[in-house]
Amino acid sequence: MTQPSFGLIGLAVMGENLALNVERNGFPVTVYNRTTAKTDEFMATRAKGKNFKAARTIEEFVKFLDRPRKILVMVKAGKPVDAVIDQLKPLLEEGDTIIDGGNSLYEDTERRTQDLEAKKLGFVGMGVSGGEEGALNGPSLMPGGTPAAYKELEPIFTKIAAQVDDGPCVTFIGPGGAGHYVKMAHNGIEYGDMQLIAEAYDLLKNALGLDRKQLHEVFAEWNTTDELNSFLIEITADIFPQIDPDTNKPLLDQILDAAGQKGTGRWTVVSALELGVTLPTITAAVNARVMSSIKDERVAASQELTGPTGKYDGDVKAFINKIRDALYCSKICSYAQGMALLAKASSEYNYNLNLSEISRIWKGGCIIRAGFLDKIKVAFNENPQLANLLLAPEFKQTILDRQGAWRDVLATASQLGIPVPAFSASLDYFDSYRRASLPQNLTQAQRDYFGAHTYERIDKPRGEFFHTQWF
Ligand code: 6PG
Repeated sequence: MTQPSFGLIGLAVMGENLALNVERNGFPVTVYNRTTAKTDEFMATRAKGKNFKAARTIEEFVKFLDRPRKILVMVKAGKPVDAVIDQLKPLLEEGDTIIDGGNSLYEDTERRTQDLEAKKLGFVGMGVSGGEEGALNGPSLMPGGTPAAYKELEPIFTKIAAQVDDGPCVTFIGPGGAGHYVKMAHNGIEYGDMQLIAEAYDLLKNALGLDRKQLHEVFAEWNTTDELNSFLIEITADIFPQIDPDTNKPLLDQILDAAGQKGTGRWTVVSALELGVTLPTITAAVNARVMSSIKDERVAASQELTGPTGKYDGDVKAFINKIRDALYCSKICSYAQGMALLAKASSEYNYNLNLSEISRIWKGGCIIRAGFLDKIKVAFNENPQLANLLLAPEFKQTILDRQGAWRDVLATASQLGIPVPAFSASLDYFDSYRRASLPQNLTQAQRDYFGAHTYERIDKPRGEFFHTQWF
């Protein structure tokens, strides 16, 4: 066996699967886990007969690796990453690279990159998307950090990543925390997609009364369309027929409607607020999870607060198609917001992001993978300076053609008392973005009235400020 230069720390399921993926692609791997029993178990089972070497201490782990060492750290984001880096730092030599493949906060990655680069070590903060299955068989990889370190890793990453028609789902994202920033935005978009799908499900089930067989059929059918074909729609269709083995009832109906979250969606919203980018759909998605989590309070409130109920009494088949159109228009708006956030972060943090390439590497492997991303790739390829996805010819035409259906769905939802926060936020985004005039002239007047905050005038150049003695 040749001496490995690739090592992996952290044998939880994502770590194990990535290690197996790297080895399967022809690169010997040294593994280390803090709890040795876990390493022993891995070596005796999944790694058996394969090109793996196990280290029992961190010193041994580093010694087992040929230089330049490439060490992928797959531990929990936050303090555990710093702890592993602190252990490795004194043992590594110039040109060695640490890769953090967890969902780390981009600001932490920025700090770690600076710290390690100053010591002539490489650091790559890499978003890894695709869950357990993706890690094993082909994830989407979003590496950022030290460019020279990425060059050394490229032959490995291009092999282990998901492969799509236009190449492997990996590209160097940018310096510092760029890789983790883009992974964070990916997750924000994932939250938006999931919430939009949940709202479509709510309408199909509660406005139209579809049963789970019909729900399965609708989502399976949508998944065959050019525009909605995606991993998340596919798994949604799969969920409806599942039976709970304990109760013999449909599993989905046994699942408590209180959504968890680990933080990446919230981070996306916080970053957007800090950068002054409007992100209403993803914000609505985060809020919807928060609202869902106060289950007991909602159950109590449901006894007190009444509102409209009832079913849609029109043409069911036609309304299903309207919901599909509303979902697609809302999804376009959500991605428009996500891409606008990336564009702003790129200029603010000098990430030099290539939005077309980012869309391309999201076409496969990751949770938001979808045929639709090819259209986004093309839009940013044709015009890298595109101010907003809504202005790309294809998306513009889609929304112009379907906004009637989208508005009908929102009006019906409102009449039936069915909350559709992400659908609504998307339409608000569209209606605000397309308005040459918004009512914030009044906001400015009020600010000047109570605080002498001044205002600009429509008949004077931008940047000239005026104050009025209002009273
Ligand atoms: C991915 C996923 C992954 C994780 C989510 C879940 O891209 O593979 O996004 O990173 O499953 O972070 O996030 P929540 O627990 O916040 O829903």
